[in-house]
Amino acid sequence: MTKSITIGPLRLPNNLILAPMAGLTNLPMRFMARECGAGLCFTEMISVNGLVREGKKTFELLRSAPKDRPLGIQLFGDEPGIMAEGARLVAGYGDLLDINMGCPVRKVVDSGAGSALLREPHKAAAIIRAVRSATSLPLTIKIRTGWKAEEPSFLEIARIAEEEGCDAVTLHPRSRTQMFEGKADWSKIKALKESVKIPVIGSGDIFTARDVVAMLEETGCDGVMIARGGLGNPWIFREALEMMTGREPVPSTPQERLTMALRHLQLFTELSGERVALREMRKHLAWYAKGLPNAAQFRDMINRIEEKEELTHAMGNFFDRRAA
Ligand SMILES: Cc1cc2nc3c(=O)[nH]c(=O)nc-3n(C[C@H](O)[C@H](O)[C@H](O)COP(=O)(O)O)c2cc1C
Repeated sequence: MTKSITIGPLRLPNNLILAPMAGLTNLPMRFMARECGAGLCFTEMISVNGLVREGKKTFELLRSAPKDRPLGIQLFGDEPGIMAEGARLVAGYGDLLDINMGCPVRKVVDSGAGSALLREPHKAAAIIRAVRSATSLPLTIKIRTGWKAEEPSFLEIARIAEEEGCDAVTLHPRSRTQMFEGKADWSKIKALKESVKIPVIGSGDIFTARDVVAMLEETGCDGVMIARGGLGNPWIFREALEMMTGREPVPSTPQERLTMALRHLQLFTELSGERVALREMRKHLAWYAKGLPNAAQFRDMINRIEEKEELTHAMGNFFDRRAA
């Protein structure tokens, strides 16, 4: 079941992918996922308008490192010419480009980007065509099932993507109006797999290694994206790879969680400095602690800590005590 996946000219070592997540899938998180076995990692979605305006903050989102490969860059925008310009600007930064056609957030859809494109097939086609002609990198799109559950457009948009030269398509089978509610309908991933020839990547409700295996089996999809299930849990990649080769996954110990969380903190500090690292790591540490006794108290405590040394000490105390 572990198989490499080929997206255009890009051959990935395996078919497990860290999903794009705004505000989260930065360099430290991608390193953690790669160390646990992710075959491909994505940046968060990057505004092409920000890129063409040479916004410093936007370019920050492209920060990477030689070991951070293969890297997928996800772009969003609503205007074909600007999307193409964005694609040219990021050419040297990654190994694959993805167009976001699934983001449900109001600010994004109000600008005509993200999942708003799911109800505008002509515009979606024009965007894909423009980007396709602006880059030689492998090109993919990431979509939801449609704007509304009653108006599914994913098969049409995927067909367009294939015709316009996309190399793969990722489906998160919820509609825009659903946001994150209800269950992701994996039968739609199966339907998509049966309707296109390019690789199909499934996304949605992958919280355990068992979910990865189940999605591959139930839908026949070529690859699986891990999103919320990877938060504070990069082992999900390792566990899924173990399961896919027929082995029973070994769950992470509190000691291992501590080692990983400390490494995450260190990587964040190197990337962004102590102040930002401390603030940003609060949410990650809450995820690393999830499910362990007194995790809520730990979360409250670290939210008040302003010094790295104090934080490291509190982490040691918390995880070591649970290891004992
Ligand atoms: C906090 C957060 C940020 C996200 N940001 C993006 C994004 O930038 N681009 C994107 O295509 N999807 C984004 N997603 C959607 C995920 O990539 C994924 O498709 C979705 O969470 C479903 O997978 P899951 O149920 O396994 O989490 C985001 C999801 C979350 C929870």
